[in-house]
Amino acid sequence: MEAVQNKRKIFNKLNELSGREWIKFTKTWFIHRPAPRENAKLLHPAAFPESLAKEFIEFFTKRGQLVLDPFLGTGSTLIACIECERSGIGVEVVKKWADIAEMRVKNLLSQRKGSEYLLNSMGLTPEKLLIKVIHGDSRRLSEIWKENNFPPVDYCITSPPYWNQLKRDYLRQRERKEKGFETKYSEDPKDIGNIDDYDEFLKALKQIFNEVYKVTKNGGYLTVITNNVFYNERLYPLAFDTLKILSGEPYAWVPKDEKIWLQDDKPLLPLGIYNVWIGNRAHQYCLIFRKEEG
Ligand SMILES: C[S@@+](CC[C@H](N)C(=O)[O-])C[C@H]1O[C@@H](n2cnc3c(N)ncnc32)[C@H](O)[C@@H]1O
Repeated sequence: MEAVQNKRKIFNKLNELSGREWIKFTKTWFIHRPAPRENAKLLHPAAFPESLAKEFIEFFTKRGQLVLDPFLGTGSTLIACIECERSGIGVEVVKKWADIAEMRVKNLLSQRKGSEYLLNSMGLTPEKLLIKVIHGDSRRLSEIWKENNFPPVDYCITSPPYWNQLKRDYLRQRERKEKGFETKYSEDPKDIGNIDDYDEFLKALKQIFNEVYKVTKNGGYLTVITNNVFYNERLYPLAFDTLKILSGEPYAWVPKDEKIWLQDDKPLLPLGIYNVWIGNRAHQYCLIFRKEEG
């Protein structure tokens, strides 16, 4: 077994998967039915499943490499990193979410034996991983990297706010309010989900992915989980615009593909029934980019 793994390490430049596992993951759609979310995570209105993050991380990195999430939320990416023995740094602008992420990370680490994890210092090997939650604004990412002397990032996976959709999604808000959960991320003006103007929002998004570019190794991949948004009786092509602005200059990410996450466990609602077309959106886009300089 060890001999097979060592052979893979020599031939496989990107990850530690077998040929069969590699090919399986390259299919451009997948159905993902995550396990029910734990309570701390349920508080956040838009968390993604760590099982999904884990699959991407295992494809785009090897054990011990460094993963970034500049929109950390309640820390799903870092939980996935611990589970697949990668280092991870997450930045979250809202203190409440950063605190929950920190708590979830500490709880999981306290249950783990064997590997030594460092919450406040460096040492990136599969045995000594850096897992770090930063409460801060990702528009300052490259400064944060300099201040903390962080090493360059191997891979970034993240899900930015879907514009101001959470403020607008009245049906979902009503359902969450009834259960006593949060209906928006925050009132913080630094939270880009509070920018109402669509073009201004796109500019802020581009600014943050420029920063991600600066701290990523050449050849490193980026996965952005996002969607188009139906608002004010029309579709805003947020996923398509995200691909367009991120691949534009300066700091142009090279778009490589989309992988479509099919959510066939989502309940269908009678939106616009007997009147007008309003789709039951039951998929999300995982956009894949690479930094290719020189
Ligand atoms: C879609 S949620 C991410 C959820 C996360 N994947 C999880 O599983 O919990 C987007 C997050 O981005 C954060 N955010 C918005 N603007 C930010 C900024 N300028 N810097 C860092 N985080 C920001 C929001 O507070 C929100 O928690």
